[in-house]
Amino acid sequence: MAFLDKHKAIETHATLLLVLSFLVVTIGGIVQIVPLFYLENTIEDVEGVRPYTPLELAGRDIYIREGCYVCHSQMIRPMRDEVERYGHYSLAAESKYDHPFQWGSKRTGPDLARVGGRYSDAWHVDHLTNPQSVVPESVMPKYGYLLNREIDGRYIEGIMATHRIVGVPYDDAMMENAVADFTAQGDPNSDYAGLQERYAKANVSNFDGQPQLTEMDALIAYLQVLGTMVDFSTFTPDASR
Ligand code: HEC
Repeated sequence: MAFLDKHKAIETHATLLLVLSFLVVTIGGIVQIVPLFYLENTIEDVEGVRPYTPLELAGRDIYIREGCYVCHSQMIRPMRDEVERYGHYSLAAESKYDHPFQWGSKRTGPDLARVGGRYSDAWHVDHLTNPQSVVPESVMPKYGYLLNREIDGRYIEGIMATHRIVGVPYDDAMMENAVADFTAQGDPNSDYAGLQERYAKANVSNFDGQPQLTEMDALIAYLQVLGTMVDFSTFTPDASR
């Protein structure tokens, strides 16, 4: 009973109880969190994951600006219903260059983590311009004005430099060619060999079908790369390490 008597001292002193609880929770937290900083496979490196091209990166900013994340998540959970509907569950590595990440928890619309390549560029133009023309019962707002908003790569190098600070491996060649790559991706008649050398499998297209480069081009370039970087026909989870 001596032990329980000592415990009574803790239970009857609010401050002591608070301090000791805090201590216990802190130790528990450290035990859980600290190993993650030292484990090499906390974020397993996966072949194929590359930084976004300048145009995709601009599209991603438009996605965030327009609040698409309010209705769309970008994380497929490893549950059967999700995997059957959306494809392979999301890997941590697939969003390692996302600052901030777009996982989300609200799905008014479907998850977009693997929407890349699922529809044609023209479908996206129609859908974004007037979602109800494609899906009559859709509650998604219209984004047709993006077709009228021209963009150039004026700020892209600065944006890439910022991402570099937080660890996205944009190298010097990528920085030097930022503006050229930005415009090349939206023009299939351009010389885009350098772009595809720097960014594997970069999808070059006149995304919105107009001669000028617009926010619609950037947004669709971004949507079309989502979930397509990793080749899941050859991918095997590395659980052995
Ligand atoms: C008010 C909520 C809402 C917002 C905001 C919203 N969406 Fe949607 N979205 C939906 C709904 C609902 C659907 C399903 C019906 C449809 O296809 O229109 C959808 C469908 C989609 C699809 C088709 C997905 C698939 O797998 O069929 C894409 C792509 C998409 N949205 C992109 C966007 C983008 C890009 C933005 C921001 C510019 C955006 N959405 C903003 C609600 C929203």
